[in-house]
Amino acid sequence: MLPRSIRKTLRTKIWPFNRKFSQQINAAPAQYRDLVKQIIAESPIWGAHQTIQFPDGFTIKGGRDESRLSQFGLPEDLSDSSVLDIGCNIGAVCIECKKRNAKSVSGLDKNPDLVKCAQGVAKVFDFDINYKPFDIMQDTIDQKYDIVFFLNVFHHLTEKGKIKALRTLDKITVKQMYFEAPTQKDVIAAQDKELELDDYLAYLKGFTTFKSIEYIGETDFDRPLIVCNR
Ligand SMILES: C[S@@+](CC[C@H](N)C(=O)[O-])C[C@H]1O[C@@H](n2cnc3c(N)ncnc32)[C@H](O)[C@@H]1O
Repeated sequence: MLPRSIRKTLRTKIWPFNRKFSQQINAAPAQYRDLVKQIIAESPIWGAHQTIQFPDGFTIKGGRDESRLSQFGLPEDLSDSSVLDIGCNIGAVCIECKKRNAKSVSGLDKNPDLVKCAQGVAKVFDFDINYKPFDIMQDTIDQKYDIVFFLNVFHHLTEKGKIKALRTLDKITVKQMYFEAPTQKDVIAAQDKELELDDYLAYLKGFTTFKSIEYIGETDFDRPLIVCNR
C-alpha cells in the first residue's frame, strides 16, 4: 500500500483536480472533445494553462485569461498590424489578436504538442493562424512583426538564452513588444534565479534598442507587465 502521506496528497490534491478535468472534458462539445482532452493532458496537474472561450460558448478554464491584454492597452483594431506570440502555449493570445482583425497572426512554442493544441484551437475558430514549433534559445526568425508578445517565458531560459531571446525580440519587432515577467513562484518552479522588476528592466535596456521601455503594472497574478516601443 502507498504511504499515508502520498494517499492523502492523491485524495486531497490530485483526484479533485482529475474529477474537475474529466467534468470539463465531458462538457466539451463532441466535435472537439479530443482536443480539450489533449490540452488538459499537456498539464496533468493544473489543466489548461490558458482560458479559451470557444465560439459556441464552451470555455476551457486555465490559469491565464486575456484580461492582461486590456492592461497592456492593446488596440481593439489590429487590422494594420502583423502579430507574433513567442511561447504561445495553446494560442489564447493569438486567438484574441485574430478576433481584433490582425493582418496576420503567428505563434511559436518550444513544445510541439502545445503547437498541435494551438492548431486544433484555431481550427475550431476557423482562424488562419500560423503556428510552428520553435525554441527561442536555438532557432532564428527572419521575418519582422509589428507587434511581438513575449509573455511569461523568460524564466524558462538559460542566461545565454535570455540574452539571445532579447536580441531576437529587438531584431524582429517593428512597433511594439509586450513583455510579461514571471512571478517568484514561476521562477522557483522553473529553478531559475529570482529577479526583481529592476532586473527585468535592466535586461531589456541592456540588450535591446527600444526607445521606450515602460513598466505598466502587474497582472492579476502579480506578474510585471512591460511595454517596449520603437
Ligand atoms: C508559462 S507558459 C506562458 C504561456 C503564454 N505565453 C502565456 O503567458 O499564457 C511558458 C510557455 O513558453 C514556452 N517555452 C518555454 N521555453 C521556450 C523556448 N525556449 N522557446 C519558445 N517557447 C518556450 C512553453 O512551452 C510554454 O508554452
